[in-house]
Amino acid sequence: MGTLDGKIVLITGTGGGQGRVASLIFAREGAKVVGCDIQADANNETVELVRRGGGVMTGIAPIDLTDPDQARQVVEEAIAAYGGLDVVYNNAAMAHFGPMPQFSVDDWRATTAGELDIPFFVSKYAWPHLVQRGGGVIINVASMAGMIAGEVPPMVAHSAANAGVIGMTRQLALEGARHGIRAVAISPGPVLTPASDRDLGDNQAARDAITRTTLLKRFARPEEIVEVAAFLASDRASYITGANYAVDGGATAW
Ligand SMILES: NC(=O)c1ccc[n+]([C@@H]2O[C@H](COP(=O)([O-])OP(=O)(O)OC[C@H]3O[C@@H](n4cnc5c(N)ncnc54)[C@H](O)[C@@H]3O)[C@@H](O)[C@H]2O)c1
Repeated sequence: MGTLDGKIVLITGTGGGQGRVASLIFAREGAKVVGCDIQADANNETVELVRRGGGVMTGIAPIDLTDPDQARQVVEEAIAAYGGLDVVYNNAAMAHFGPMPQFSVDDWRATTAGELDIPFFVSKYAWPHLVQRGGGVIINVASMAGMIAGEVPPMVAHSAANAGVIGMTRQLALEGARHGIRAVAISPGPVLTPASDRDLGDNQAARDAITRTTLLKRFARPEEIVEVAAFLASDRASYITGANYAVDGGATAW
C-alpha cells in the first residue's frame, strides 16, 4: 500500500531536478503521474525511469507553461490520461538572477512569468476539475527566497516571485476550502540537483557561499523536498492548508 494509491497527480517540470525525483517518489507511493516539461528528451527519460521502476506515468513535452494556452492544454491532457485529477504539484520554474539596478526589465518579466505565472496558470485551469471532483490538493514549490532576502546570487525577481507564490497559496487555500481543495506551499533552501551540481562544478567558494546561509551547512537532496510534498499530497495531511513549509536546513530560522 502506497500513501498516494490511486491518486492522479500532475507534476510540472518533470524533466530534471526535483520534478524527476518527484515523479519517481510519487509513483513509488502508488500515484498515477502525469509529468510535463519544456525539455522533451529529458522528460521522456523521466517517464522511462518511472516505468522501468514499475510506476505509472504519462509525459507531455515539450510544453511551455508560461503560455496560458499550453498550460490549459496540459491540464486537459492530464485529465484525459487517467480520467481525472487529484493533485497539482506546481514544481516547474525558471528564474534569472542579477543585482540592482542592472537587472533588466526583460529578466524581471521572464522570472515573474517563469515562477509566478506558471503555478497560477496551471492552478487556474485545474481548479474547475478539482471542484468537480469534490476536492484535491495544490502544492506550490516556492523558495526560502520568498521569505528572506538572499545575497548569493542577487535575486530581486526571484524573491518577489516566490513571495508571490506563498501569498497566492494562502489565497487558493481560502477560496478552495469550501470546495475541498487544500493548497500548500513548500519553500526549499538550496537544493543540489544534477544541473546545479554541474553548474557549480569545482567552485567550492560558490558552494560555501550558498550553504553558509543554512544551519546544516549543506545543500538539500531533491528527495528531502519531495518527501515533504508526498506527505502533503496524501490524505495523512488532511488538516493542512494555507501553510508554507520551509524545508531549508534552518536557513530561515536565524
Ligand atoms: N534548486 C534549488 O536550489 C531551489 C531552491 C528553492 C526553490 N527551488 C524551486 O524548486 C522547483 C524545482 O527546481 P529544480 O531545482 O528542480 O530546478 P530545475 O531547473 O532542475 O527544474 C525545473 C524544471 O522546470 C522546467 N521548466 C522550466 N521552465 C518551464 C516552462 N516554461 N514550461 C515547462 N517546464 C519548464 C525545466 O525544464 C526543468 O526541468 C522550482 O520551483 C524552483 O524554483 C529550487
